[in-house]
Amino acid sequence: MIAPQDRVAVDPTPGPAAGAATLSVEDLRVSYPGRGGRVAVVDGIGFDVAHGEVLGLVGESGSGKSTTALAILRLIRPPGLVESGRVVVEGTDLLAVDEHELQQLRWRRVAFIPQGSMNALNPVMRAGDQIVDAITAHEAPGDRAALRLRVEALLDSVSLRPDVARRYPHELSGGMRQRVCIAMATALDPRLLIADEPTSALDVIVQRAVAETLLEATRRLGASLLLIGHDLALQAQMVDRLAVMRAGRLVEVGPVRAVFGQPVHPYTRALMAAVPSIRDPQGSRRRTWPDAPADPTRCLIGDACDQGGAPAGEERPLMHDIGGGHLVACSLGEGGRGNGQFDGHA
Ligand SMILES: Nc1ncnc2c1ncn2[C@@H]1O[C@H](COP(=O)(O)OP(=O)(O)OP(=O)(O)O)[C@@H](O)[C@H]1O
Ligand SMILES: [Mg+2]
Repeated sequence: MIAPQDRVAVDPTPGPAAGAATLSVEDLRVSYPGRGGRVAVVDGIGFDVAHGEVLGLVGESGSGKSTTALAILRLIRPPGLVESGRVVVEGTDLLAVDEHELQQLRWRRVAFIPQGSMNALNPVMRAGDQIVDAITAHEAPGDRAALRLRVEALLDSVSLRPDVARRYPHELSGGMRQRVCIAMATALDPRLLIADEPTSALDVIVQRAVAETLLEATRRLGASLLLIGHDLALQAQMVDRLAVMRAGRLVEVGPVRAVFGQPVHPYTRALMAAVPSIRDPQGSRRRTWPDAPADPTRCLIGDACDQGGAPAGEERPLMHDIGGGHLVACSLGEGGRGNGQFDGHA
């Protein structure tokens, strides 16, 4: 619980990481009213997305993934409140600029593919007109013929035929609608794309193809991608680094091979164990993880964790770099349990 307060003033000066990363999120905190006071649903998280990098953000339903995306784009509406934080995109803190500048930065610098966007296309507007609207909302409307060619090129870049421009959303399959959303998001050459569960409403085969299209579009722009998703198998193939979120906090962040190959935090392990595999078809039913440490008072990070097995009073599990940029929160804090008996819904 955190006390109600106004959004704190944030320093517009870029931090040291701002030059090195496309996106740098620092101490981001978002609250909603709950019983007995405001509840932090994003609780002081920080992470970077490097130039050209794809960062995956995973975690169970309600862990705060969409809230994080909305806060980055300053789209949290009352009674939600961004309590604190910095969201630096290529040197500009989005939380500190005025509304006019923010409008300039959205779509041009940062584009968003919201959760469920493919079902939120305007049903009475042709796909091409919706892409034109996205462009002309941020640019002076140019020559109609030039705009039409631009729309066709955008459709082509997401593997859609030019005639899709004349179709209404209900005439398109789910995968095609999602491709239209990707075309819209990439229309103004953003530096950063944030895609919230862009493929989870699609069937498995289409999911993969659309995910590849999204990756190709990101690479073509030389942009960075924050990819929010549930599907760990898909994330494993798509992202460079993975961030695992639980109850508003990050519990593990690192290169995707390290996090998948050697997950350390109990919650990450439970998430991984829940993915069924050919070798372990029972995986999806497993809720606890078998190789629990003998001593439940010791953090799984081991000696590198300077909380020394004494988490009492420790509000925020510290992140420790266990090597190669693989960061893990102390497993004895709120982010997990030292006895290995994770009881959440992975
Ligand atoms: N408009 C809102 N009003 C009140 N509480 C909200 C609101 N939006 C989000 N929350 C709270 O924030 C928490 C995080 O929600 P969020 O949508 O960010 O989760 P998520 O990780 O994106 O989940 P999912 O995987 O289901 O999309 C929720 O558990 C909910 O309690
Ligand atoms: Mg969500």
